[in-house]
Amino acid sequence: MKPVCDTRLAQTFHVSLDRPDDFEGWRDAARGMIRAGVLPDRIVWETPADQRMDLFAQVSRHSPPPLPDAPPPRTSRNFLQLAQSVILHSDSERFSLLYRVLWRLQSHSRLMEDRADADVRLMEDLARQVRRDIHKMRAFVRFRCVENEDGEHYVAWFEPEHHILRANGGFFVRRFAAMRWSILTPRASLHWDGDTLHEGPPASRADAPSGDPVEALWRGYYAAIFNPSRLKVGAMLKEMPRRYWKNLPEAALIPELIAGAQAREAQMVQAGAQETGERPQSLEAIGAAILACRRCAIGCNGTRAVMGEGPETSALMIVGEQPGDIEEREGRPFLGPAGQVLRAHLERAGIPIGQTYVTNAVKHFKFENRGKQRLHHNPAAREIDTCRWWLDSERALVRPRLVLALGASAARGLLGRTVSVQQVRGAAHRLDDGSELWITTHPSYLLRLDGEGREAEEARFSDDLHKIASRLSELSKPAAGSHA
Ligand code: URA
Repeated sequence: MKPVCDTRLAQTFHVSLDRPDDFEGWRDAARGMIRAGVLPDRIVWETPADQRMDLFAQVSRHSPPPLPDAPPPRTSRNFLQLAQSVILHSDSERFSLLYRVLWRLQSHSRLMEDRADADVRLMEDLARQVRRDIHKMRAFVRFRCVENEDGEHYVAWFEPEHHILRANGGFFVRRFAAMRWSILTPRASLHWDGDTLHEGPPASRADAPSGDPVEALWRGYYAAIFNPSRLKVGAMLKEMPRRYWKNLPEAALIPELIAGAQAREAQMVQAGAQETGERPQSLEAIGAAILACRRCAIGCNGTRAVMGEGPETSALMIVGEQPGDIEEREGRPFLGPAGQVLRAHLERAGIPIGQTYVTNAVKHFKFENRGKQRLHHNPAAREIDTCRWWLDSERALVRPRLVLALGASAARGLLGRTVSVQQVRGAAHRLDDGSELWITTHPSYLLRLDGEGREAEEARFSDDLHKIASRLSELSKPAAGSHA
């Protein structure tokens, strides 16, 4: 750093940023100030929301010229990455902190690696709080449906602690691309019309609707899956802090559910875990509600839920395990490699996929990141059990005569217990609503085999599908003695 001339030492510079999360504005101004040799304590950073004036300071609102021969400012990838999160924090000193660290980086290029440094630690701390707030917003935004002249519009009210709304916009667009929605907050609002994301002014809680059928559904669902025998109040409060409760429809039930937990536990042991919530009345309602479902860890992983598809009058329902990488991206079941195998076998067996309802036991994609790839992970039994509510709701509406479960997870989603596929395949089982359940292997199992093993398993799979095809045609014949 070059010596600083006296006038710059005495002057205070005001930098006005366009927005509280204006990273680019801060970065450009900070570069200019570094090149001009302006000391960290000589800058006042302002945003439209916090205009401040030090009346007694010698104030300049013009950028100072660079020092002669000033080198380009030095920075590090690590600093820039962290700075983009820190800038979203609501701490009014964040801009000064960032400039101070940038200033120090000019003479200490490895500063960011010094985890004991107070400034670096403070940056990491602020970034962590911002990340947590981003996560909470993703988990706790609840949309309420309102009808306007253009149809359904989903509106949510949320109170973030930091300036994270714009940074989170892309997530909500990807996740709820097919809905028209608005997220209102005390700082600003975001509006998605299915095509473009617009920003709007701050809102108040009263601008958001409070309560609608989707909410009733949520409550019913939450009450149904709330498992008192697993209740750990401390852990629950950590994940779902009380400050978010006021905007969560299901939170109204929490005190009551905790209070009644012991009684319910005894009841559940006696009667089995009974679903008590009201079921959605249409496949569209299920499709909308699963998008917002965060009842298990998979639902909270930021992926899009994939709804079943096919005619509501289908005699056959095929149930897979969960959407894979391609299905999650496309928002439709069975499009990837396992889907191709399934479709080819269905065609050979004469089962028209266009007359079949195809869905999954679990609606979100569970995976592990491996480099750029998302590697499939089997859902846990409790995750399948949690998602069963949605599968049962689809069955209640489609009312298929025959259900085909592909693999052990699908079988568990339908039976509520784990079975050995090899032992139960090839024969009909009865489901509680009177429909027939057939179970076979998952097509992804075939993809993992090769050589003779693959040929043998493909033949068994094909056999199972042919049996189902002929059972379906039997079921479609009018029963003896019945009249058309
Ligand atoms: N595997 C499944 O079980 N379901 C899909 O939708 C895709 C692959």
